[in-house]
Amino acid sequence: MCGIIGYLGYREVYPILINGLKKLEYRGYDSSGISIFYKNGYSLFKTKGKVNDLEKKIDFLKKKNKLNGTVGIGHTRWATHGEPNDVNAHPHVSNSNNIVMIHNGIIENYHSIKIFLLKNGFTFNSKTDTEVLVNLIEYIKYENNLSLEEAVRISLNETIGAYSIAILEKSNPETIIIAKLGSPLIIGIGKEEFFIASDPIPFINYTKNVIYMKDGEMAILKKNKELDLRKIINNHKLHPIIKKLKINLEEIEKGEYKHFMLKEIYEQPKTILDTLRGRLLISNEIIYINGIKSNKEKFINATSIIIVACGTSWHAGLIGEYLLEKYTRIPVEVEYASEFIYRNPILSKKDIVIVISQSGETADTLSALKLAKKRGVFVFGICNVVGSSIARNVNAGVYIHAGPEIGVASTKAFTSQITILTLIALKIAKYKSTIDNFFYKKICKELSLIPEKISHIINNHNSIKNISNKLYYINNFIYLGRGINFPVALEGALKLKEISYIHAEGLPAAEMKHGPMALIDENIPVIVIALIKSNCYKKILNNIQEIKARKGKIIALINEEDVQVQMLADYVIKIPNTVEELSPLITAIPLQLLAYQIASLRGKNIDQPRNLAKSVTVE
Ligand code: F6R
Repeated sequence: MCGIIGYLGYREVYPILINGLKKLEYRGYDSSGISIFYKNGYSLFKTKGKVNDLEKKIDFLKKKNKLNGTVGIGHTRWATHGEPNDVNAHPHVSNSNNIVMIHNGIIENYHSIKIFLLKNGFTFNSKTDTEVLVNLIEYIKYENNLSLEEAVRISLNETIGAYSIAILEKSNPETIIIAKLGSPLIIGIGKEEFFIASDPIPFINYTKNVIYMKDGEMAILKKNKELDLRKIINNHKLHPIIKKLKINLEEIEKGEYKHFMLKEIYEQPKTILDTLRGRLLISNEIIYINGIKSNKEKFINATSIIIVACGTSWHAGLIGEYLLEKYTRIPVEVEYASEFIYRNPILSKKDIVIVISQSGETADTLSALKLAKKRGVFVFGICNVVGSSIARNVNAGVYIHAGPEIGVASTKAFTSQITILTLIALKIAKYKSTIDNFFYKKICKELSLIPEKISHIINNHNSIKNISNKLYYINNFIYLGRGINFPVALEGALKLKEISYIHAEGLPAAEMKHGPMALIDENIPVIVIALIKSNCYKKILNNIQEIKARKGKIIALINEEDVQVQMLADYVIKIPNTVEELSPLITAIPLQLLAYQIASLRGKNIDQPRNLAKSVTVE
């Protein structure tokens, strides 16, 4: 996690760093700092808290010309080593104060390096692994009389872990050295200027020409010079490949919305259409996904599919399991990436691993991908962020095209992931002839109607506001679903937990009587997904009765034509009907809105919930 930014060129650097850090705050926001370089030195400011706190603390210096300079680096932190405070915030400096560094990632062998450095007279102010690395660089540089660039290279070859770093030296303020292994780092190439950042969003209004650095690469950026890209391991010169970004500025602005999360919830009719565009050709009922088509034989002959992901993407994976098994009859397992990598999974060459990740940077998912590839298994990726590490490492894949998702709580990526999984399942089923043609056509048609139905929910969600007003003060919630809507119950509970800090649990409805029913009393709201076309509808009715008999409060998601659940429930949220397999695309929306409204009534920081970060680049 953590966001890093840097600039070297002719513009004033302070606004680039501060505004860039604000755009990177989704990656971490417990402390931040910047360092600005000028002819004979540098200034360094850092503080606990958000980028706004940093800005408040130092903005007055602008008037005194103390923030002037055209070279600098900045960092917004999500703590790994050492609590969030001023001292542990980045940038970190070496003992001589000559070298300044920012870092995203974890140096796993920092402890042994620290002991070595302590024996050699070094001292440490912070608890961070970054301060250890910057001092290792200093030690290697001065012990061996090396250039900074050579010292960085040798030091990085001594470290184990993950990093994207940017380093400057007091005596050479017109050079930034950057390096990447595991954590993302993008270079923006302008005219006589360089930008660096954890993602391109902070600099897209300056340039859309970018280089996605690869693992094991370092670059030396010098004023008015060509970029020098090298391999860390052997210093071999590399040829940089410049790509053109396709993001628009309005996609990353909040516009009229109070929060990015609300904007992203409201965007879903459009984002699902974007996911379907060019893939579902409704007039002739064709599904086209290049990554599936070009690997047709592999999918047809797959013995099993293992879906690997984390968090919300894992929930989408669970929905994918229902869809793939139902349509293709290929056995599917869904694994938490963090568990998959540590249990020596049984994989055969005819299996397919599907990794799902919005950011494409989740460290556990990336490790799972690498493990599967090492075992010779074909890995297919479903990502949102174009050019992300996961997207670049898979054998084949598909982008969901949901556009930048900035709210920490994932919403539009979830529904686009489900949309793509539906298309993939239908396409493979068509290849394998495991789906009836009438049914295939029906699902395709229904899928094309989903955006309109979501718009209907968004435009008519007063009942959700009323329910939120009644329940927002309660500290425990239960979410129940069955079948394909069980993962939606998990996702609804996760949304509530992460943005309102309310304890919430998602369960398959029938599991209540195996233990959790003991929690039920008149104080606990139970949110039940009870759709009339579900083949478990009758059973869900029984589950609701059982909860009512114990005085639980029922909030039911029902279809407009439902009568029976409506008679039992304390509150209902009515949603449009669709085929059961596509219903998660509909049921997810009111649960996202409910979590949003409750968090809003509780006055929480919705886009940046405490202790979280959008992109989890540490294992
Ligand atoms: C929850 C959420 C997280 C992510 C998880 C995986 O709202 O956003 O649970 O889903 O950290 O992230 P990606 O999909 O980027 O791999």
